[in-house]
Amino acid sequence: MNGSKSNRKREMDAINHEYEKLPSARTWALSRRLVRGEGPLDSKIMVVGQAPGRFEDASGRPFIGASGKLLDRLLGIAGLDRKEVYITSVVQFFPPKNRKPSDEEIAKCMPFLKKQINLIKPEVIVLLGAVSAGALVGKSKVMSDHGSFVERDGITYFVTLHPAAGVRIKRNIPVLEGDFKLLGKRISRARAKSRK
Ligand code: URA
Repeated sequence: MNGSKSNRKREMDAINHEYEKLPSARTWALSRRLVRGEGPLDSKIMVVGQAPGRFEDASGRPFIGASGKLLDRLLGIAGLDRKEVYITSVVQFFPPKNRKPSDEEIAKCMPFLKKQINLIKPEVIVLLGAVSAGALVGKSKVMSDHGSFVERDGITYFVTLHPAAGVRIKRNIPVLEGDFKLLGKRISRARAKSRK
């Protein structure tokens, strides 16, 4: 590991170490286990979901349940391998009963996600679902905004549905597939441009 890589790892560990202290608050209602993001710390592409589910809470790894399997396939459609992207969520602790995290919980967790983004410095952030798109670019109407790109602060954000929407409702699968095809085209165009 070269110097900058090990520095990044140290910085991410420090962010996560602070993050892990949040559950000591008396009012904490999420799981106490931090599900750390996964992937190279210099990824050009980051994927941000809503919050870990039961399987992720049990294993400590993001997107390994049914939504994760669909996500892996969708990444393939975009020409991406899970190993090359950094995968995480807005809230990185499991909300019991798989409920949606509250606005207050999202507000508590966002500063940590922002620090993680600043450290990784991705070119593209894929926003999976309304919580993610709402928290990062203020676009929580994903059924109308999906497939759109938002340029902000030098990062290209891509709005799409959460894969859980495809797991639950099959007619959302072609919508997700179409979005990831679009994403793939945009990424390969950007890669071709940077090779010139
Ligand atoms: N759904 C999410 O939003 N995040 C995970 O880590 C797993 C499922």
